[in-house]
Amino acid sequence: MEKERIIEPKAIDTNESILEKSLRPKKFSQYIGQEIVKEQLTIYIKAAHIREEALDHVLLYGPPGLGKTTIAFVIANELGVNLRQTSGAAIEKPGDLVAVLNELEAGDVLFIDEIHRLPRIAEELLYSAMEDFYVDIMVGTKESTHPVHFSLPPFTLIGATTRAGMLSEPLRARFGIINHMEYYTDEELQEIVKRSAEIFNVDIKENGAFEIAKRSRGTPRIANRLLKRVRDFAQIKSDGVIRQKQADEALNMLQVDHMGLDYIDQKLMKTLIEIYQGGPVGIRTLAVNIAEDTETVEDMYEPYLIQIGFIKRTTRGRKATNAAYQHFGYDFKEE
Ligand code: ADE
Repeated sequence: MEKERIIEPKAIDTNESILEKSLRPKKFSQYIGQEIVKEQLTIYIKAAHIREEALDHVLLYGPPGLGKTTIAFVIANELGVNLRQTSGAAIEKPGDLVAVLNELEAGDVLFIDEIHRLPRIAEELLYSAMEDFYVDIMVGTKESTHPVHFSLPPFTLIGATTRAGMLSEPLRARFGIINHMEYYTDEELQEIVKRSAEIFNVDIKENGAFEIAKRSRGTPRIANRLLKRVRDFAQIKSDGVIRQKQADEALNMLQVDHMGLDYIDQKLMKTLIEIYQGGPVGIRTLAVNIAEDTETVEDMYEPYLIQIGFIKRTTRGRKATNAAYQHFGYDFKEE
């Protein structure tokens, strides 16, 4: 079995998805962080409400685990409409998409996660669905097919993707609202950890919540997962109260370092520094060296390493910075 990565930004399994649902804020007033996204969407939602129209289509992009799904649910809740959820990877043929569209009522939200994975023919159906609320599909047998016109109620499509660049231009152009999700600050994550601890009924001190926040790579999903593990540790090794000491010891045991980096980050940085003398080296070569997909490295490992200034993207490839050399205990590199 593959070693489970505690700081994996994607939901690990169904249990975790269920847990996330219970922690998920229902309204913007309960939602911590993403101030710009919240402020803008609040205005658009109010305006749509007053005009009694469906909200314009929304594209949310950014690294996994930052709350794209949560925002979609909050939007539907604030609009007072139903949310239907699917994923680009779950739709294999146009009929799969038509089945979902067919269930929509006026004003509803259709949330498509990983929208960049939609097969091209399904994506093309979305163009008319988004623009004029209809789809034309071909029905019949190989010998004789005829087009059938389906009218749809006005609805709001919320698409989520890890990188807006992976979306085709015609699809991207049909979103009236495009928002980028940012990594959370340590202070925002501290608030999220405290809020989750309250829901779990765990006693956590400010410094305990901050220690978890600092080591969660700007990602609420990771913060909530680390909180669960630290809670177990505090219960078994101490009096159940999470202070900085318990958080620090538990996270050290989980091999999550002071910046929230784990063995895969170390492997990646060591490869870049030791084998390629700090680069520049192509992302594909790096990915092969650590036995990961290029896409996984680009979407999940690299963004945070760039964010904290350990990796620089250059036209000739990735380079390790002096900050990275220092963090991993190497001598400074000559610039
Ligand atoms: N739980 C996970 N993400 C959250 C957020 N942004 N605000 C409040 N609770 C959360």
